[in-house]
Amino acid sequence: MNARIVLLPGDGIGPEVVAEARKVLEATAARSGHTFEFETHLIGGIAIDETGDPLPASTLAACRDANAILLGAVGGPKWSDPAAKTRPEAGLLAIRKELGLFANLRPITAWDELVEASPLRPEIVAGVDILFVRELTGGIYFGESGTEDDGATAYSVMRYTTAEIERIVRVAGEAARRRRGKVTSVDKANVLEVSRLWRTVAGRVMEAEFPDVEYEVVLVDAMAMHLLSRPGDFDVVVTGNLFGDILTDEGSMLPGSLGLLPSAALGDGGPGLYEPIHGSAPDIAGTDTANPLATILAAAMALRHSLGLEDEAAAIEAAVTGVLAAGHRTADIARGGPSIGTTAMGDAVVAAL
Ligand code: IPM
Ligand code: MG
Repeated sequence: MNARIVLLPGDGIGPEVVAEARKVLEATAARSGHTFEFETHLIGGIAIDETGDPLPASTLAACRDANAILLGAVGGPKWSDPAAKTRPEAGLLAIRKELGLFANLRPITAWDELVEASPLRPEIVAGVDILFVRELTGGIYFGESGTEDDGATAYSVMRYTTAEIERIVRVAGEAARRRRGKVTSVDKANVLEVSRLWRTVAGRVMEAEFPDVEYEVVLVDAMAMHLLSRPGDFDVVVTGNLFGDILTDEGSMLPGSLGLLPSAALGDGGPGLYEPIHGSAPDIAGTDTANPLATILAAAMALRHSLGLEDEAAAIEAAVTGVLAAGHRTADIARGGPSIGTTAMGDAVVAAL
C-alpha cells in the first residue's frame, strides 16, 4: 500500500522521538514492500514562534489529507507564561477537535521484561493489561471558560452531552469484546451533575447494547487508588477527558515510565492521530536521553488502526519487547543501571525488526 503519514514533531523531545519512530516506519516499509510518504509540519510552540498560530492552517490541511498523523509533543517553559494569549497546548486541542478525534485509546501494558522498572511491587504489576478509553473532544477541556472580576475569578465548565457519552462508551464496549470482556466506567457521580448523566447514559448503553460485557462503575478518587492496589482487575476503562488525562499518567507507573505509553486518537473515519502520552520534557530535550519507545509504539498503533497493517504493527511491538528482553534501557527505565540514548534505542528496535 501507499500511505501518507504526516509527522508533527512539535516541541522539546518531540523531534527526537518522532525521528526514531520514523526510522522504524521506514524499516517497516522496506521489509513489507509498502510505501510510506512522510511530510513534516508545524504544531505547538515552534508553530507559534514561526507563524503565530499553534495550529497553522497548512498543518491542519495536510493532516486532513493524510492517512495517519504522528505527533511528538507540544509545550515548554518558553510558552508557559499564564498571561500568554496562545499556548502550544491549544494547537493539540484544536487538531483533536477539528479532526473529530473523540476516542483516545491508551493501552497500559506491564512488560514482564520491565517488572523491575516499576516503583510498584512485581506481584502487583505482573500481567497488567489495561486499555483506557478517554473521551477527547468534550468535557472540561472544551467547556465554556473565562474570567470575571478583572481576572480575580476564573471558571472552566465540564459539560457532556448524551451523544458524546454514548459514542465513547460504545468504543469501550466494542474494545472489551475483542479483549477480556469487561468495562469499568469512571466518574464522580457522587458530586458532579455531569457525572450523573455520564453514569446514567453509560449504564443504559452497556445494558442495552453490550449485555455480554461485564460492567462496573468506580468513582474517580477510588480509581486512583485501585489503579495502584489492584490494576490486574481492570480490562477496559472508559472515562471523561480530564479524569482520563490524570489516570493515564498515573497508570504509566505500572510499566514504570511515561516514556513507554502510546496513544491513538480516533474519530468516525478520517485519519487518526498517534502520539506518546508524555509531554515535551524540556529538561532533557536535545540530550539524546528521551525514551522513544512510546512514540515507536504509537507508530505501531497507526499501522494497526489507520492503515490496517496488523502484522506490521505486531512486528514493531514484538521488536520492542525483544529489545527490552535483550536488556536495552533508556535512562527512565534503567533504575540507575547502564543506559543507552534515544537514537541507540531506535536503532535497536530497527535491528530487532
Ligand atoms: C495528554 C497531554 C495533553 C492533554 C496536553 C499536552 C494538552 O497531557 O495528551 O495527555 O492534556 O490532553
Ligand atoms: Mg496528559
